Amino acid sequence: TSPTAVPASAPNGAEASPGGAVTLQIVYGSQTGTAESVAEQIEDLARQHGFEPVRCDLDALDITALSAARRLLVVTSTYGEGEMPDNAELFWQALAAPDAPRLDGLYYGVLALGDSIYDGFCQAGKNIDNRLAELGATRVVDRVDCDVDFEDASAEWISRAVPALASVDDAATPADVAAPPTEQVAPEQPTATPAKAPRRPKSKWTRKNPYPATVVANTVLSAPHSEKEVRHLVISLGDSGIEYAPGDGIGITPVNDAELVDRVIARLGVPPDTVIADRKSERSLRDALTHHYEISTPSKYLVEYIAARSQDAELTHLIATGDHEALDAWLWGKDVLDLLDIDPTLTITPDELLAELRPLQHRVYSISSSPLAHPGTVHITMTTVRYRSGDRQRGGVCSTYLADRRTEGSQVDVFISANNSFRPPADEARAIMIGPGTGIAPFRSFLHERAARGARGANWLFFGDQHRDRDFIYADEVDAFVADGVLDRLDLAFSRDQEHKVYVQDRMRENGADLFTWLEDGAHLYVCGDATRMARDVDTALVEIVAEHGAMSADAAKDYVDNLKRAKRYARDVY
Ligand code: 2AM
Repeated sequence: TSPTAVPASAPNGAEASPGGAVTLQIVYGSQTGTAESVAEQIEDLARQHGFEPVRCDLDALDITALSAARRLLVVTSTYGEGEMPDNAELFWQALAAPDAPRLDGLYYGVLALGDSIYDGFCQAGKNIDNRLAELGATRVVDRVDCDVDFEDASAEWISRAVPALASVDDAATPADVAAPPTEQVAPEQPTATPAKAPRRPKSKWTRKNPYPATVVANTVLSAPHSEKEVRHLVISLGDSGIEYAPGDGIGITPVNDAELVDRVIARLGVPPDTVIADRKSERSLRDALTHHYEISTPSKYLVEYIAARSQDAELTHLIATGDHEALDAWLWGKDVLDLLDIDPTLTITPDELLAELRPLQHRVYSISSSPLAHPGTVHITMTTVRYRSGDRQRGGVCSTYLADRRTEGSQVDVFISANNSFRPPADEARAIMIGPGTGIAPFRSFLHERAARGARGANWLFFGDQHRDRDFIYADEVDAFVADGVLDRLDLAFSRDQEHKVYVQDRMRENGADLFTWLEDGAHLYVCGDATRMARDVDTALVEIVAEHGAMSADAAKDYVDNLKRAKRYARDVY
């Protein structure tokens, strides 16, 4: 038995579409939707250049048809410490395989997105770029590795990449590629999966131009004696015209803590009203440190800078040995002030410091509301990060900003971060949702949306946390979903309510037979929450459940789960 997977779609084997335009294959590997939105920009420019763009995610590409596709632009983000995003993993397996087909005759370019705070910066893009070249494809535009502030660099790359492919001369086709001249090509429709969801019109409110929204509620969901502080925020979209869909995230521009800013300025030993020339304009040092730079999470550059100039033997040693794990452990919980204080004799000017800092980044939260059930608002479900280190109380950059400084009535800068690969299934299809802790956020959205739509497909929720009496957030709503028949199945795993730990994957295993039946019935499975432990263990459990209840070998079960991914029936929103 295997799920009714959509076969991996091949890119257009022909060069010309029925209209006569040359096809340009655009593929993306996206974890949170950013690379996909960049792919949409490429698509727009490709059309302006007279191409017939065909866009799909990397996993939908059939690499045996790649050579014939002729023109390929890849944009991919990197997940975690240098891994492929979820929807590029199967593609990468095929591309990296020793028996991967030769790709002579393919002209391509790769745009890599990443975050330089990670060691595997842009590694997914680097790997794909190198492997395509190794297999004989011709790079027509050099790869660009974009950091978190990617917009300018990616726009510049796109403006070069598309014309570069336009000037590829078909007459110069390498001899070993049997590609007939354009005129003789039998017209053939592109077969790559088109983007399923229709593209929403672009909102004017973006990362670079966020909407000043109003916080209309900010409450604590967890009980006072919980180990966690889980909050529910309601943000009004006012007259912004912002639209979103279940599965989307909301980007928030945080503001740094004033006390930390003051202490950094004091440590620099300059007057509090110091003015600096920053990014071609004059602004106060306070403004720069408050709104424009990361001061809670130090950059690699700052760490190296301090190591080179300070007398701290431990740090110098850590840098010298290149032991990234040990360095990360040492850095854990340290902010920019901690680093500066490593060596009290070290002097650094404001300009020198700013040159080593990263631009302040927005943070994205999975939206927990449904546009149908909660019109005009976006709900956020988040855990406030709080801990003590040294002599100071610390917090998360954005979560403590929202928790402590965005009380009811305050303004917060927001934009929608679309995520087309995490959507509720068709109304008649079943949904299995696994979301412990704040991982419940998108599923609260899914359930409200499906209830409001009158969707007939059955719903199964796995939720858990430490204790039922303090951590069962949205318990009333969940109970009502059960009572109303919206939730057909509910399985709870409160890890610390009994002697031994019980996790969501244990509940999955206990109900493995039914879970497999649901999958056989075409259910879509979703996972949201902690990536490093929970999502990994859930994935392992899933493969084991399929093997046991489908009476399959471990390899066959893995293929079954891979096919679920290909069919877009296994989606993850993990962090
Ligand atoms: P614990 O902290 O009691 O070990 C939400 O954080 C819930 O996820 C908690 O109940 C937590 O349990 C649990 N959790 C911790 N590690 C997990 C793992 N590897 N898989 C699934 N759940 C896990």
